[in-house]
Formats: sequence, C-alpha cells, structure tokens
Amino acid sequence: MRIGIIGATGLVGRTTLKILEERGFPASELILFASQRSAGEKIPFKGSQVEVMPISDNWDLLADIFFCSVADDVAQELLKDYKGEAWIIDKSKVFRLDPKVPLVVPEVNWDAVERLDSKIVANPNCTTIPFVMAMAAIRKTARPERTVVTSLQSASGAGKAALEELRLQREYVTAGEKMPEDAREVFGPTLAANLIPQIGSFDKAGEASEERKLRDESRKILGDETLSIHATCVRVPVEVGHSLSVTCVFQEEVGLKAIKKSIESFPGIKMMEGDELITPLDVAGKDEVFCARLRHDPMDKKVIHLWLVTDNLRKGAALNAVQIAESLI
Ligand SMILES: NC(=O)c1ccc[n+]([C@@H]2O[C@H](COP(=O)([O-])OP(=O)(O)OC[C@H]3O[C@@H](n4cnc5c(N)ncnc54)[C@H](OP(=O)(O)O)[C@@H]3O)[C@@H](O)[C@H]2O)c1
Repeated sequence: MRIGIIGATGLVGRTTLKILEERGFPASELILFASQRSAGEKIPFKGSQVEVMPISDNWDLLADIFFCSVADDVAQELLKDYKGEAWIIDKSKVFRLDPKVPLVVPEVNWDAVERLDSKIVANPNCTTIPFVMAMAAIRKTARPERTVVTSLQSASGAGKAALEELRLQREYVTAGEKMPEDAREVFGPTLAANLIPQIGSFDKAGEASEERKLRDESRKILGDETLSIHATCVRVPVEVGHSLSVTCVFQEEVGLKAIKKSIESFPGIKMMEGDELITPLDVAGKDEVFCARLRHDPMDKKVIHLWLVTDNLRKGAALNAVQIAESLI
C-alpha cells in the first residue's frame, strides 16, 4: 500500500508518521509532501530517511491513500476539484459538513463510509472526536435533552507555529519581560500564564467558529440534526491534550451506574475509577479518550457531569485518520 502524507512536517503529519510506524501499517512506499519551505528535509521512517517534496502535478497518482494535514485554505485549493482514485483522509474543515463526504470516527459511524460514494473521508475536529465518542456511549443508555460543554484546548491544536509561540511566550513570562508584538502573532492575546476564551471567529450572535464546529460535526456524525449542544471553547496554555467539562441534561432521572457501564464498554474510551483524576499531561502520547469525575448533579438527578481528556494530536487527529485508513484496506 503506497502512502502519502500532505503536510508531513506539521504536528499532525509527524504524529501520523509515528502512529503508522507504531502500528506496523503496511506502507510499501511513503511519499511526503509539505510546502516549498521544507523541500529536501529528511524525515525518519522505519529506519530510512524519507525526503520531503513540494506538491507536484499529478501528485495523486503517487499513492493509494493520502493523509492530508494542511491548513483549510491549502486543502481547499488542492482538493476542491479532486477526481482521483486515491483515498484522501482530510484533517481540514473543508469537507466535514459536505453531505457527499463521510465525516468519520470509526468507533461511532464507520457505516458512513459504506453509505457514501466518496474518495475523500473527512476527519472531525480535535474537540469533536472525544466529545462525540462520549455522547455515543451515553446515548446507549439515554439521550440527553441538552448538553453544555466547556473545552480547554491546548496550543498544539492550532499547529506548530502556535506551540512554538506558547514556548516563546513562557520565556518572556519567566524572565518577567514585556511580551513583544512578534511573540503574539498566532493567538493575539498572550496565552502563556493566561487563557483565551475564543477559538476561531465570532458570528453575529457571538458564537465562535470552534463552538459551531463542535455542534454541527457532532450532529452529522451522530445523525441527529436536533442534537442540542451549547459550547464555550477556551484556549489554555497546555502544550498537548484537549479537556472537556461536559454537562448532560436528561428528560428523566438517569442511573449513574448505567451511564458508567455504557462509557466503560465503549471502544476507545477509558473510564477512570473512583476519584482518580486525569490531566492533559497524563494523556499526551496515549490513544484513548479518558473520562473521569462522572457524577450526578447534587441538586438534580436528571443532570450528570463528566470530564474528558484526549491527546488532540493522536485520537483528536492522526490516530483517528490512521484508524480510518486501517478500515479502508
Ligand atoms: N493540531 C491538531 O490538534 C489538529 C487536530 C485536528 C485537525 N487538525 C487540522 O490538521 C491540519 C494540520 O494541522 P497541524 O496542527 O499539523 O498544522 P501545522 O503544524 O501548522 O502543519 C501544517 C503543515 O502544512 C504544510 N503546508 C503549509 N502550506 C503548504 C502548502 N502550500 N503545500 C503543502 N504543504 C503545506 C506545512 O509545511 P511546512 O512545514 O513546509 O510549512 C506543514 O507540514 C489543519 O487543517 C488543522 O486544522 C489539527
């Protein structure tokens, strides 16, 4: 199986390579694409050094499956008229809500790939993936009437320039020096020793694009257009690992044991026992979506609260895409 990675030098591209190697993915050939800036760079894979190339004409003939992990505008330009035979697993937002393109978390809706005749398969947003897995598990017991989510999203969720900026900002904060303008290019406000209650652009109603993505993508994946989700997405000064504080409101009282059992038995989710905590630092480099602090609301047995944490670069992006590829072959 010939494998191509578009955006091989980025955080998600490099994590994809690592996961392909770890899982012994049957890659007979590997093609690595990035921008002109990285042309000639060598990246190790299974003991050899593979050279990075700029994207050429007829690029799509060079592999059977491509993992595309470039920014939205680059993916849009590259794939807008795609008619090739190779599978494209795309991490950008460009095709996620296209009704002709499956948007897939294999543990939740693999059947979408079988229903839709598309060579492009879209990978959901890094916050949607853990959220939708927990929702799919909970809905096996009862469907929440309404769900309120606050996401605490790491800097790496915004790519390598964002992660580098957080590291640079930390140096200024530690030194007690004023933050220069050129250390605030990605996030706008300072992220180090701070947090930013905005991810993406606001619409007229004040909702941020990341919050809209969480609702719209979850509705598509769960096949439930009336799913009621109210989100606030916050950027936090964590390097890797997205956390979500989730509150589900049900029509009737729900049994916590039944909900816990549904979550525990759901593939890819690890339920923490008792009061055991789980933090972004604990999950960096791990594959599961971790769930902790499952509890009834002390004032209302129709309400439950829980805490989710995932490595956004792995299950939130690269691992989910590799699992899609494994299911395709
Ligand atoms: N980070 C996450 O947690 C996460 C999670 C889910 C989805 N995603 C999505 O995945 C995609 C990649 O994210 P990332 O975090 O890996 O970003 P990143 O670290 O900024 O990497 C971007 C990659 O795109 C390449 N690139 C830029 N312009 C290009 C061009 N004109 N032609 C070919 N390659 C080009 C870059 O190459 P150079 O090194 O040469 O610049 C780099 O390899 C984005 O759409 C993002 O929204 C990210």
